[in-house]
Amino acid sequence: MTLKTILNCAGLVCALAPLALSPAIAESMMGTNQGMMGASSMIGGARDGTATASGGKGLYQQDCATCHGQTGSGGVKIDGVVSSDLRSPALEKMYHDSDNLLARAILTGVDAKGQTLDPAMPRWRGSLNSQQVSSIIKYLKSLHS
Ligand code: HEC
Repeated sequence: MTLKTILNCAGLVCALAPLALSPAIAESMMGTNQGMMGASSMIGGARDGTATASGGKGLYQQDCATCHGQTGSGGVKIDGVVSSDLRSPALEKMYHDSDNLLARAILTGVDAKGQTLDPAMPRWRGSLNSQQVSSIIKYLKSLHS
């Protein structure tokens, strides 16, 4: 059995094996078990040539998706408050296209108008650094309604 497998490696079977494995590798790298999203984010990461874009997606899925949804559409009720829709272009318009204002909201819970967000939205200062937050913001801008 083992010998036969090794012999197969000289032919087509072995050539196909890495192809069959690669989606699983992509998934584990992205920290997601959704093959399709893992693959598209690999492509997105490669296209703009930074580790940051794909990093933002991973962080979003880990820290934000439970409340704001996989697609960023929000609408999830948490402690009686509905989570915000984080997709473009509405969010960018509300935050006057300002990454700084968005980062402030994420880190300190102060919204575009300077008002305090409901405590249901965690304050991420101390858990996320500014580079991680800008990766997430970059990813948010790729989400469209
Ligand atoms: C435990 C649930 C929860 C998690 C986790 C969470 N949020 Fe929120 N978020 C909320 C809720 C609820 C609101 C709405 C607060 C309000 O209306 O005052 C909100 C509001 C926001 C806003 C303000 C939008 C606006 O309406 O002005 C931004 C930006 C935001 N979240 C980004 C994030 C990001 C980025 C992450 C991940 C790092 C995240 N949130 C994680 C629950 C959450």
